[in-house]
Amino acid sequence: MKKLVIASNNPGKLREIGQLLAPLGIEAVPQSEFGVPEADEPHCTFIENALAKARHASHHAGLPALADDSGICVAALGGEPGVRSARYAGEPPAGSPRGRDSQDARNNRKLLAMLANASGRNAHYYCVIVLVRHARDPEPLIAEGRWHGEVIDTPRGTNGFGYDPYFYLPEFGRTAAELSPEEKNAISHRGQALAALTARLRAVHGAW
Ligand code: IMP
Repeated sequence: MKKLVIASNNPGKLREIGQLLAPLGIEAVPQSEFGVPEADEPHCTFIENALAKARHASHHAGLPALADDSGICVAALGGEPGVRSARYAGEPPAGSPRGRDSQDARNNRKLLAMLANASGRNAHYYCVIVLVRHARDPEPLIAEGRWHGEVIDTPRGTNGFGYDPYFYLPEFGRTAAELSPEEKNAISHRGQALAALTARLRAVHGAW
């Protein structure tokens, strides 16, 4: 079994990635097991941030590494929040809750405020996943996924995370937060990117 370090501390992502890589004889190990410190994400493109995270994890763990970067892009806002999705509303004010849920709530409030006078609600989630064999790998494997929907004003559903309760899918008549985890993984930006990466990995497996 080959080992691969995953440059994420998100338990949901780690489980999903581990399940997809196991049939390829690859064991996905979270970066926390190697004490990898959080990487900076200073770039203005998803791919640059994903590569920075993967190279960082590979450097610290001394293993091949996989990283993803994702966000929601709203056409009427020129692609915002984009790479700033996780921290769209900025850091929490002093004394207020700092957890993931409160950050999500503040991000969603800001998104709706920005959309109040916008010309449209079309949006897509984007995800890119990269795999490097070593920290300076000149030929990373790269796969991406896009998931189109609309931002609505009233939240619906309790599954998922982040912007999901406001991300409406007209063809399903539901938001992303009203899909089961299995339904979401089968069609989401991250699910698409992971499926494409797995296909690429099968094709070049000998080189890995
Ligand atoms: P990261 O890829 O973990 O850096 O996540 C970027 C941010 O984009 C998250 O913190 C969420 O705000 C948003 N995001 C990415 N994927 C999703 C998703 O599947 N649902 C809801 N929000 C998402």
